[in-house]
Amino acid sequence: MTTISEARAELQAKTRASQKIAEDRSEVLNSGLAANLEMPHPIFIQRGQGGYVFDADGNRYIDTSVGFGLHMLGHAHPEIKKAIQDRAEEGWMFGIHTTAQLGLANLLHEASPCAERVVFCNTGSEATMYAFRAARGFSGKEKIALFDGFYHGAHDYGMWVADPSSSRDEPRALPMGNGIPKALNDLVLLLPYRNRHAFDLIRKHRDELALVFVEGVQSSNPQSGSGEFLRELADVCRENGVLFGIDEVITGFRVAYGGAQQRFGVKPDIATYGKVLGGGLPVGGITGRADLMNCFTGLAAERGVFSGGTFSGNPLTMEAGRAMVTHLRDHPEIYQRIDAMGDRLAAAINDYCETNQIPAQMKNVGGMFHMFFQRKSVNSSRDANKVNVSAQKAFYLHALNRGVLVPGTQRAFLCAAHSDTDIDHMIDVFCTSLADVRNEGIF
Ligand SMILES: Cc1ncc(COP(=O)(O)O)c(C=O)c1O
Repeated sequence: MTTISEARAELQAKTRASQKIAEDRSEVLNSGLAANLEMPHPIFIQRGQGGYVFDADGNRYIDTSVGFGLHMLGHAHPEIKKAIQDRAEEGWMFGIHTTAQLGLANLLHEASPCAERVVFCNTGSEATMYAFRAARGFSGKEKIALFDGFYHGAHDYGMWVADPSSSRDEPRALPMGNGIPKALNDLVLLLPYRNRHAFDLIRKHRDELALVFVEGVQSSNPQSGSGEFLRELADVCRENGVLFGIDEVITGFRVAYGGAQQRFGVKPDIATYGKVLGGGLPVGGITGRADLMNCFTGLAAERGVFSGGTFSGNPLTMEAGRAMVTHLRDHPEIYQRIDAMGDRLAAAINDYCETNQIPAQMKNVGGMFHMFFQRKSVNSSRDANKVNVSAQKAFYLHALNRGVLVPGTQRAFLCAAHSDTDIDHMIDVFCTSLADVRNEGIF
């Protein structure tokens, strides 16, 4: 058995270089800039290869962040590296349309079931912001419906959480942090996730709603059985004349080549992309019905909306994305493998918790997984209200000390570079770490 203080001391002893960087960093760099990678201990990554990352001290970790889910092929994949190098030889930023854009646009057009047209931008946040704008411009209505527990990026229109004191069936939106104008609250309708009351609320507000927007799989709550809810949601929106959008920023090219749309058999009016689409470089994409997407053709277009951006569609991203997506298209077996590994991992952890009466559970959709440190079963994020934060922190510290990195956001992912041996090792590390937490009486 290893105690928390032993694990912390061991980790500290082997990560002296990281510790030094952490001390120096605090003088100049706001930690928020480090993309929220809050780990139980500040570890700085020097390089990544396949399914592993190596820190500043040279320690190797099985990486379950994989760039917040985007490295489907693992770090430094040779085909993506070559695409980036080849592009760099010819110049990587022109600010004018380039030949590189069409390649990725065609791939996205073929992969995303709703993608009659494609627009590129630079991040998932930008993509969702533009999707909201297009829906407002097209419909002439202003309210956007979002789901309790969602994350759609960092812009003001999507920074809402459910007031915990509000009704579960009719959640009230509170701004996430300061700086979000109160006035924007009037433009949001918060809906309960995986809950039929959402359908009644859509019917009730249909005349104000520009868009109902939902993650293909909620990253805060990856539930494999979300398809029925999504399909019914699409029907309710259609019947009520409300546009329906799926945020595929995480799920696109991850839960299936055609994203949540393909996995769950659902077709939205508009979908947003990011992450995997850019092959590891910053990207966003908006796809959808041709008539709706037409508003992006310029302000002079009917119901035209503004879109633009210095780096949108830049050739370096386009080529990296093309290499990634082409590889995924040509190797469909990757999805079966990642699904099987994710299911095996979750089954083993859940079995261990059940057998040993440990109040924790793992939810997963294929290789996308999340641990909840509570006994109560989780259906929506409202159920994740009994989380034992001390146990959670202790668990991640032990796992990190044993060489498995789970990001502080707890949204974890497998990639094609992870092997069955890695999964065996993760099962071993997670079970041993759960046992350590329990033996120390933290559960
Ligand atoms: C579902 C979803 N939408 C949008 C975003 C925002 O993407 P980005 O971080 O590229 O701005 C994220 C980021 O994690 C996401 O998970």
